Amino acid sequence: MPAVEIRPGIYWIGVNDRTTDLFEGLWPITHEGVSYNAYVVNGKKKALIDLAKDIKADEFLDHVTEIVDPLSLDYVVINHMEPDHTGILTTLRRIAPQATILTTSKAQEMLQGFFQITENVQVVEDGETLELDPFVLQFVSTPFVHWPETMMTYEQTQRVLFSCDGFGGYGAMQGTLFDDECSSADFYERESLRYYVNIVAAFSRPVLRAIDKLEGVPVDVIAPSHGLVWRKNPARIVELYRKWAGYAQGEPELGVTLLYGSMYGNSEKVMNAVAQGVSEAGVPVEIFDVGRIHVSYILPAVWVNKGVIVGAPTYEGHLFPPMAHVLDICERKRIQNRKTAYFGSYAWSGGGYGEFSELAKSLKWEELDHFTFHGGPTREDLKHGEAFGRQFAEALK
Ligand code: FEO
Repeated sequence: MPAVEIRPGIYWIGVNDRTTDLFEGLWPITHEGVSYNAYVVNGKKKALIDLAKDIKADEFLDHVTEIVDPLSLDYVVINHMEPDHTGILTTLRRIAPQATILTTSKAQEMLQGFFQITENVQVVEDGETLELDPFVLQFVSTPFVHWPETMMTYEQTQRVLFSCDGFGGYGAMQGTLFDDECSSADFYERESLRYYVNIVAAFSRPVLRAIDKLEGVPVDVIAPSHGLVWRKNPARIVELYRKWAGYAQGEPELGVTLLYGSMYGNSEKVMNAVAQGVSEAGVPVEIFDVGRIHVSYILPAVWVNKGVIVGAPTYEGHLFPPMAHVLDICERKRIQNRKTAYFGSYAWSGGGYGEFSELAKSLKWEELDHFTFHGGPTREDLKHGEAFGRQFAEALK
């Protein structure tokens, strides 16, 4: 995709990434891809805002060159130091050493750590403005959205907010940048939620602080570092982020995430009975086989739904390892204050439930119920599973 003018004199010059399998080396994006959005503000003074991962440097520089000669760049604004934003900084510095890097004081330290860059770096303060004639940039400190050094940049005359990771999402561009032109809004909203929970959710309080800080700032375009550029309805992605961030402390939605793992299908049989019970109660349920589905795709459901039912067998005296992994990631992502219950099969001594119960305590999840069964489920076990699911769902209402 060539450079795209998003407002008069302001251009997207980013790149699509459809070859990285794991974002941050962790989160699968093989099918969805991701974009590294960067921008040129082309005034009498010229600024590049954000960069990209160190792939496709030629393509990135071609996009810049479509708009400005890199040797005419006055500034490079580094909103965030994570290398998906800064990977090509070394290359850019070789080509355009005259461009002054503008960034926060914390990022200045990281510039030295990541790239050994100390020269021609200027620290900007929260609220500081910079005249580019006719454009005016204002720097807005938004620590921990996503790292402590992170800021956003606001262009005052065209009311464009370069929001960095904030309001971003997975999903490479599908022929257009804009919310009003894309034909798959559901895809981008779903991938924004997955991105939010995978990448940003642990910092939900700072996200809410940033949204409050931006209250009253007139924004016509939200131009994040990943995903769609929101120009028709920028309030939509802000409200989604506000809602998702609110789930960290407040009540999430009425729904059950039904996580199960099964070695030989016995816990799966009971899972189906439990799902039937949840459905009978009229509560939405999302079902995941933790042995087969990457935790990246499971986290959004756990984040959004107030109930989590865990069904997994005992494995060598402990909880089935893929389930323990998912619950561990939930703890690392600070998904707290859910209601939970456990069921699972055992062959001799048990132990799966005990480990689950300990994990639930450290997650601060309220345990409502549990049951175990020996080997394969009997007809009574299946009936019990159905009632267990129904009662759990009723308790969420
Ligand atoms: Fe898009 Fe925190 O990196």
